[in-house]
Amino acid sequence: MRTCILLFVLLLSLSTNSITGFRFPDPDHDVSNHLLNFTSYSSPWDYFKNFTGCQIGEERNGLAKLKQYFHRFGYIRDIPISNFTDNFDDSFEKALRIYQKNFNLNQTGILDDQTLQQIQRPRCGVADIIDGASSMHSGKTTADSHHHGDSTTKFHSVAHYAFFPGQPKWRPRNRRLTYGFLPQNNLPDTVKLTFANAFKRWAEVTPLSFVETEFYSTADIRIGFFSGDHGDGEPFDGTLGTLAHAFSPPNGRFHLDGAEDWIVDGDASTATIKSAVDLESVAVHEIGHLLGLGHSSVEESIMYPTISSRKKKVVLRDDDIQGIQVLYGGNPNYNGTSLIPSSTTTQSHQEREESSNGGVHNLNIRSCWWAYSFFVVLCYSILLM
Ligand SMILES: *[C@@H]1O[C@H](CO)[C@@H](O)[C@H](O)[C@H]1NC(C)=O
Ligand SMILES: *[C@@H]1O[C@H](CO)[C@@H](O)[C@H](O)[C@H]1NC(C)=O
Ligand SMILES: *[C@@H]1O[C@H](CO)[C@@H](O)[C@H](O)[C@H]1NC(C)=O
Ligand SMILES: *[C@@H]1O[C@H](CO)[C@@H](O)[C@H](O)[C@H]1NC(C)=O
Ligand SMILES: *[C@@H]1O[C@H](CO)[C@@H](O)[C@H](O)[C@H]1NC(C)=O
Ligand SMILES: [Zn+2]
Ligand SMILES: [Zn+2]
Repeated sequence: MRTCILLFVLLLSLSTNSITGFRFPDPDHDVSNHLLNFTSYSSPWDYFKNFTGCQIGEERNGLAKLKQYFHRFGYIRDIPISNFTDNFDDSFEKALRIYQKNFNLNQTGILDDQTLQQIQRPRCGVADIIDGASSMHSGKTTADSHHHGDSTTKFHSVAHYAFFPGQPKWRPRNRRLTYGFLPQNNLPDTVKLTFANAFKRWAEVTPLSFVETEFYSTADIRIGFFSGDHGDGEPFDGTLGTLAHAFSPPNGRFHLDGAEDWIVDGDASTATIKSAVDLESVAVHEIGHLLGLGHSSVEESIMYPTISSRKKKVVLRDDDIQGIQVLYGGNPNYNGTSLIPSSTTTQSHQEREESSNGGVHNLNIRSCWWAYSFFVVLCYSILLM
């Protein structure tokens, strides 16, 4: 307990703000001030709140926009965007039910609160259903339909990872992939380190390794921050909405929305700006796509399409590990328990690592950290009163 208090005081004296962040295309402005600002939370999809309770047969102003959203993420096909109307029609209801299934919601076919909340969450720009081939939940359930009823085993309900159509993957020489950063972004080292950490998480569970190169144009994986329309037909949409997107192997393009308030390190949950997004969390997810994984309906998995702002989610789950190992095999040096269904391994790899090299000590630091965070929040609240 005494070390805890000592550390607490130390942290307090060393750090004025534990969170560092940045924003493009203005990397020079004072980021720490920016993150202390309480800005109003707004996303391009806030507008969809207005459709609460809407169901088949109704007509609502602007519903065509929501149809475009469903089209963009793969739920409506075969109807040209120009034909979308504000009518809640059959085809929209069908799309909505598939969406609800993919996100583990009740398949009501109605735009209920839970569904609209999910729709508004910031997410990855990669579609959930690609070329009409159902990924996420729905595809797996069809395949397992003969297991209906009590006989459905736990194991069948575990694997929800998906691949891109045709299961593309890298076949690199020496199992080594290079990555480079768009030179114009002039990224600080802290940001590059965050990406390196994200790559490391996938390297730990596969035979692959990732090496930074200064030659952006010839790198296997090319990372860049862009704002708005940037020439690939998938424009970014400002704060929140879509956060990033990446292309399937062996394309290698990895784009992030420069308009987000990215948190580079520190505890994302204590960020005072409500729209702050944790960079490493998004990077780990997008690298999954770059390596060949699609979206998963397992909410805890890295490959789930949405992430809340101010949330850190960087530990690969068994669903992610099983998926990536189907493509590349395991890491001979990896001692995890990837072949055991996730329901029996709730402990994260990070926690396992910690407990194997002195769990008690780490636990103390962690509870100190929470105490510290709480204290900071308290201070801010007092200042604001
Ligand atoms: C905080 O946000 C408000 C409104 O967006 C802006 O006018 C103000 O300049 C910001 N303050 C800082 C310190 O960034
Ligand atoms: C929400 O709907 C109401 C009534 O249909 C309308 O008056 C209002 O302008 C809508 N709000 C937005 C943000 O579109
Ligand atoms: C789209 O609208 C046009 C003109 O209204 C119509 O001719 C066409 O059949 C529609 N296409 C679909 C797929 O509904
Ligand atoms: C689904 O419906 C049940 C019963 O109406 C409700 O208790 C539950 O919260 C709903 N789940 C979701 C995810 O909306
Ligand atoms: C994995 O376990 C083996 C044997 O228990 C050990 O030799 C090896 O060093 C471990 N590897 C890692 C990465 O911990
Ligand atoms: Zn994604
Ligand atoms: Zn792009």
